Amino acid sequence: MKIAVTGTTGLIGTRLVELLNDIFEITQLILSNGVDITDKDSFAEKLKTDLPDFIVHLAAKTDVDGCETDKAEDMDKLKNEESLVGDILDFNRLNSNNWNGKASAFAINVFGTKNIAEIAAEMDIPLLYVSTDFVFFGDQEYYDEKISPKPVNWYGMTKYWGEEIVRSKNNKNIIVRLSFPYGYKSQIKKDFVWMLVGLLEKGEKLSLVSDQIVTPTFIDDAVLGIKFLIEKKESGIFHVTGDSFESPYDAGVLVAKSFGYDSNNFNKISNEEYYKDRARRPFHVRMKNDKLAKLGFNTKTFQEGLRLIIGA
Ligand SMILES: NC(=O)c1ccc[n+]([C@@H]2O[C@H](COP(=O)([O-])OP(=O)(O)OC[C@H]3O[C@@H](n4cnc5c(N)ncnc54)[C@H](OP(=O)(O)O)[C@@H]3O)[C@@H](O)[C@H]2O)c1
Repeated sequence: MKIAVTGTTGLIGTRLVELLNDIFEITQLILSNGVDITDKDSFAEKLKTDLPDFIVHLAAKTDVDGCETDKAEDMDKLKNEESLVGDILDFNRLNSNNWNGKASAFAINVFGTKNIAEIAAEMDIPLLYVSTDFVFFGDQEYYDEKISPKPVNWYGMTKYWGEEIVRSKNNKNIIVRLSFPYGYKSQIKKDFVWMLVGLLEKGEKLSLVSDQIVTPTFIDDAVLGIKFLIEKKESGIFHVTGDSFESPYDAGVLVAKSFGYDSNNFNKISNEEYYKDRARRPFHVRMKNDKLAKLGFNTKTFQEGLRLIIGA
């Protein structure tokens, strides 16, 4: 099977290529190959030369605080072009002059995704869009696929609009929500486990949030979950997320213990204090993955993932 993938120079995309290169014939749709997802023509051109059976869309602006900085300018443009009225976005009114070739959160995460979803639908190629737990508000006990998103920051909002476009264009499309990926030693971007290990190595005193709950996801589970859903020809929304929930503080203690460092160096800090003057984060997001598990794909708990990383 031929798959075309965006974002293969990123954290998850790099691992996806490593793990799936022998299984699928992969075309990488990346900036260095002349594909800017905000430029519909560059994307369509590349696809036409080598028609895939499936498209996986990972590319995004993922810097949550950077996305928040884009919000004011993005909102001004949306209001001026009258595509956003109240909180209803009319995708058909988006003016490409405002977004083509731009690097803002809206340009990449919404306009870029719209381009891809439209081309995929025109060519009748199913699309898998990778989204995030940050589409949720974070005030419920658990989050399954039936709960409606309510993002608390601009990154989450733009990723949610991306979901809406992908859903509306083709009912064969898949939306995969990931959360807190870890476990792959990337040369490009450190995940939170490797970031912590780096700081522990330097002997730094760390402040970790103790009143936020997240769902860490082993990156190989994310990649193999994506493969599983494509091969099963599934459609709709799936949480491809880890099988346990942790506060960043508790996760840090587990990382320190696994790698043989002293966790007494950690300070507890509140979500409110840690993210002061930064984009707000969802508070408690325990992502339920039962829908995926019922299909026969199980993911690891954080402790299981850590054991694999250290080879225990
Ligand atoms: N990391 C997380 O914590 C997390 C959590 C949940 C969900 N996700 C989702 O998972 C997906 C992958 O995340 P990641 O952490 O692997 O991302 P990442 O490391 O930040 O990589 C982003 C990728 O997008 C590409 N890209 C950005 N703008 C582009 C454009 N205009 N045209 C073409 N490509 C462009 C980048 O290319 P360059 O390298 O050339 O800039 C890079 O390959 C994203 O959709 C993200 O929303 C991530």
